[in-house]
Amino acid sequence: MGALAQSARPQPQDAETALFAADVVRGLTATPKRIPAKYFYDDTGSLLFESITDLPEYYPTRCEMSILRDQAGDIAKLIPDGAALVEFGAGASKKARILLNAAPQFAAYVPVDICGEMIEREAAELRPDFPALKVLPVTADFTKSFELPAEVVDAPHVGFFPGSTIGNFEPHEASGFLAHAGRMLGSGALFIIGVDLIKPVEVLKAAYNDKAGVTASFNLNLLKRINRELGGTFNLESFEHHAFYNRERNRIEMHLASLKRQKVKVAGETIDFRAGETIHTENSYKYSVESLTALARGVGWQPVASWTDAHKYFSIQAFRLGPGGGSGKTGQPKP
Ligand SMILES: C[S@@+](CC[C@H](N)C(=O)[O-])C[C@H]1O[C@@H](n2cnc3c(N)ncnc32)[C@H](O)[C@@H]1O
Repeated sequence: MGALAQSARPQPQDAETALFAADVVRGLTATPKRIPAKYFYDDTGSLLFESITDLPEYYPTRCEMSILRDQAGDIAKLIPDGAALVEFGAGASKKARILLNAAPQFAAYVPVDICGEMIEREAAELRPDFPALKVLPVTADFTKSFELPAEVVDAPHVGFFPGSTIGNFEPHEASGFLAHAGRMLGSGALFIIGVDLIKPVEVLKAAYNDKAGVTASFNLNLLKRINRELGGTFNLESFEHHAFYNRERNRIEMHLASLKRQKVKVAGETIDFRAGETIHTENSYKYSVESLTALARGVGWQPVASWTDAHKYFSIQAFRLGPGGGSGKTGQPKP
């Protein structure tokens, strides 16, 4: 009977699924309920994110691409010969393409992402377009230590962290990530970071509440993923996408709100929801150029240059790691 009862419970298939299950159960039994944003990015989530970047309301990608195109020449001057471009959270690699075209001195491109399918697919498309470039995708959680490919260990390193993915961290985690990236990239490395800036609330709210409902689908896809991979029983009709700006903390918050009192099973655990109770699924912190500079300086990254678009909606900032930088005194991510 014991064996029967056990086999009725969904069993984690591998270490990754076991970690996913543990994080989700921990998050859903906490108050308030939350799930780490990195779990949005299964293959469907990654493709939905790509659709978001084309939405008329979603200004960040257009602004960041326009800065990269306008400033590509100046950015290229900062890139040493034979450098390796290491992109944290590469997704579709479309911003890296702009840098790779502008700076033919890059010898290698290392897209790092938690979603292996996405970066393997994009790498296959990049290779014929850049025949002289080594394209070396790494599937990894970038908040943890991972090995850079042996071919690039001795090359000059240029880190790339676009898409304002840094805004998904709490500020102390962002500082910890910058220190961790510094340890991976090494002293003398350049780091090019794209960050969304504080701006009128109406612009922000529209960007995360698009009329076509793609951001809502992206948010709800997390529940579909839990149902599929963790034997969850979420009814997607009884949860709703909520996104709003928290002015005190300069962040957009995304939540999934339960439309009624209900019980849901996840990885064999029963989770109770009150009507209106939410799962906090993502923060997207907005920075000023100065506040990101201060955060980076705090862990040894010295500002080299910064650029914004005409509306000052988005910024790209370049930093260099001085000798002894990246020692990471604060908020070190766990290996
Ligand atoms: C906001 S999207 C940005 C994608 C792309 N860099 C861009 O600028 O359009 C975040 C990307 O980071 C990846 N990601 C999120 N958390 C991650 C983690 N902890 N480790 C590795 N990749 C992660 C996601 O899969 C996704 O591709």
